[in-house]
This record gives sequence, C-alpha cells and structure tokens, in this order.
Amino acid sequence: MTATVPADLKAFLDTHDARIAGELDAFLRIPSVSARTEHDADTRRAADWLAAECTRIGLATEVIPTAGHPIVLAEWRGAPGKPTVLVYGHYDVQPAEPLDLWTSPPFEPTVRDGKLFARGSVDDKGQLYLHVKALEAHLAVRGTLPVNVILLAEGEEEVGSEHLAPFVAEHAARLKADAVVISDSAMFAPGLPSLLFALRGLAYFEINVQGPAQDLHSGSYGGAVVNPAMALAKILASMFDAEGRIAIAGFYDAVKTWEETVRARIRALPFNDEHFRAETGSPALGGEPGFTTLERLWTRPTCEVNGLLSGYTGEGAKTVLPAKAMAKVSCRLVPDQTPEAIQRLMQAHVAKVAPKGVTVTVTHLHGGNPWRGEPEGPFFHAASRALEAAFGRAPVLTGEGGSIPVVGDFQRILGAPVILMGFGLPGENAHAPDEWMSVENFTVGMRAVAAFWEEAGRI
Ligand code: BES
Ligand code: MN
Ligand code: MN
Repeated sequence: MTATVPADLKAFLDTHDARIAGELDAFLRIPSVSARTEHDADTRRAADWLAAECTRIGLATEVIPTAGHPIVLAEWRGAPGKPTVLVYGHYDVQPAEPLDLWTSPPFEPTVRDGKLFARGSVDDKGQLYLHVKALEAHLAVRGTLPVNVILLAEGEEEVGSEHLAPFVAEHAARLKADAVVISDSAMFAPGLPSLLFALRGLAYFEINVQGPAQDLHSGSYGGAVVNPAMALAKILASMFDAEGRIAIAGFYDAVKTWEETVRARIRALPFNDEHFRAETGSPALGGEPGFTTLERLWTRPTCEVNGLLSGYTGEGAKTVLPAKAMAKVSCRLVPDQTPEAIQRLMQAHVAKVAPKGVTVTVTHLHGGNPWRGEPEGPFFHAASRALEAAFGRAPVLTGEGGSIPVVGDFQRILGAPVILMGFGLPGENAHAPDEWMSVENFTVGMRAVAAFWEEAGRI
C-alpha cells in the first residue's frame, strides 16, 4: 500500500503555516556562530530558544552544559514497548563572513523567489526545526506519538563536535535507540528526495612554517635565507602527483574499492558534469583519474587547501621575505580511513618533504570518521515510504562528500542504523554568503517527517 501524509497532520501544518514561518524566522535571527567566542551568549540563547519550543510542544527537555556549547536533549517516552528513534541536528551555524557578499543580512531572514535566505536556514536550523514541527503536529493533533522520540541538538557541529561523542558514550543507556534520523544534508535535485548511504570523514590540519625570526628585506637576504612561503608551497605541491592522486605515502592503504553494484547505482543517477561545472563557476573540473565526478565526491578521499597566509598581500608591491607561512589543509576520508591514521601519515609526509632551513609544525585541529550505511531495514523503508508520500516520488540513494562527524559515533556507540534524509538542495550556499533553504522543501519536509513517524509506528 502506498503511504500518504495523514490528512489530520497535514491539515494542522497547513493551518499553522504562517506561525511556523514566524518561529523559524525568530530561530534564524539568533547568530549562534559556534566558532566565535563573541557569539557564545547567542549560541546559548539559540539552545534555550530551541529547548523552550521543545518544552512547549510537549517534550521533556533539558539544556545540558558541556565544556563547549550546550546540548539540547528533548524526550517523549509515552509509547512503552514501541521503538525509540533519536533525531539529531545542530543549532549552531558557520560564521557569516564575508558580510558584504550577502544580498540581505545573514541574520535577517528574507524570502526571495521561494528561497529563505539566512545563515543556518538549511544548515541546519531549518532542517532541525522542521523535525520539531512534525513532532508538534502529532502531539497537538493526537496527543501522542507513534514511537518514543529523543531529540538531540548540539551546538558544536560546525566546529568538529568535540564534546558530542563523549556525551553519547557517557549517556549511551539513555540515548539507546532503534534508529537515528538526521536531516542535515541535501536532496539530489529539486523534487527528488534522497536517502544517503555514505558521508566522507575529515582530518583537518594547520601547517605552520617558520623561517627567519622576523620579516627581512628580500634584496638583502633573498636567495641566502630559505623563504617560508616557498617552503610551504613545496610542501603543499608535494601532496599530489602530476595526475591528481594524493602522493602522501600510505594515504590510500585503508581505502576500500566500492562494489560494482554501488558504482553502477551512482552512474545511474541523473547527473551532468557540465551542469555541475557551471554551478561552481569553475573553468573546468578535475580530480583523481579513473573516477567519475560523483565517485570522486562520494567514494574517494582527497586533500584540500582551505586557507593560505604568508607575506605581503596588501596594495602594490613590497619587497619582503616573510618570516612565516601558514596553511589550513583538510582531508576528506572514506572507509576505512581514520583521522588518527591520516594524522600520522600527514605528519610523516610533511616531515619528509619539508625543506631544510625552516621549522614546520603540523597540528591536527579536528576530525571525524567516514560513514557508510546499509540502505535497508525497517526504518530505512519507513523513511523511504514517507518521502514518497510527501514528494510524490520514491527517494534515490545518494552519497555525500561532506561530513557529519557524529554519524559514525552513533552507529558505533548506539549500534543503531542512521537514516539521513536531507531537505537541502544543490546550490544552497551552505557555509557561503546567501545560504538559503527552499521554502517548499521546508514545507514538504515537515509533512514527510510527520509521515515518517506514522510509518515508524507501524514497525
Ligand atoms: N551539514 C553539513 C554536512 C554536509 C555538508 C551534508 C554538505 C551535506 C552536504 C555539516 O554541517 C558540515 O558542514 N560539516 C562539516 C564538518 C565539520 C567537522 C566542520 C563539513 O563537512 O565540512
Ligand atoms: Mn550541518
Ligand atoms: Mn555545516
């Protein structure tokens, strides 16, 4: 039987549409930028705001302090004997800078052309909030939920979730769940709902190169003193071979080859390299030889320079030999790579290639394990039916190049399958200026999640 979005829940969400939009607006106005201490009070305020809303809809809610930003834990356990599902999301957002590139200010949500523009609209406040509203629909209309629910929202996802895995481990008994559901990713295309089977992991480094004790006149000293900017350039260049493979010894050792069935499934997705290229505005695509673009993004590891700093970068010319150079470099990981192993390989590589005459340090800032899930099981099928009911189309299975560090921890610590049903869209500008969430996806997403609870209750 084809699932539908239950009419009573749909009617509730229809009736309360304007109020819900107003609430999301208020949530998005709180600049909960986890990376910035000057926003610590705002980040705390976002946790409190979310907790108050969870309490209002009928969840037993706590704001639990950590050594970093607090965790919001909201529970409803009124269905003894029924499964328990844990919903995870994050209420923190990325810094909004550069502010001058936003068409409207990042913390003044604005709808243009069916898109809700605001920092955190899609990553992840909008996607988290639609879960709160789907729960509200059930509780308000029926006074009950079909299964037990734990909603866990953290405020440190965008800075590496340092305190979350220990929290999950410490509270494993309380957080015990039959499945974990997360909406913090994108659909493959508009109107095409998606369930994820893979996320890449991450190992993030800062490389510092120290040369002379201070900047020097590049004429008086250049050619006789090793230049740290050039040394850093050599170190970075040594990380890839001429064809685009990573040249760090041992980097691919733990990488698994994906089954031909999965590669065929990826090839069958409606994807066009030229559209993808045009979306990026890049003159050409490039990457590891022997793999398609989607395989490069979902199934292969990589290293990227995220930032570079050295020497004179102001107006005009300045003849100077810089004292130091710095790069932020992050590696995306795939099964069975681990951030710990990659850290060792990266440090060994840099130590090996670093030119004499400079001091180089490699610091590991944060990391997360890659994840691959089995697209099967009762909760996966419940999610699939619910997405089809709401979007009128069965979901496709997709991978994802980004990382949600806690996903692997949930699977490992709780032993529960993780269902990733995202409602973002390609081009949504997450982490960038003009981040947006499709208003339609927010609306349909609420209905899909409401239907998911209905379907989960049948398990
Ligand atoms: N929601 C993203 C993860 C994501 C990215 C899902 C792209 C789907 C598409 C998450 O908030 C995120 O940005 N994760 C970070 C990792 C974190 C440790 C900073 C990432 O992937 O860079
Ligand atoms: Mn996110
Ligand atoms: Mn993010």
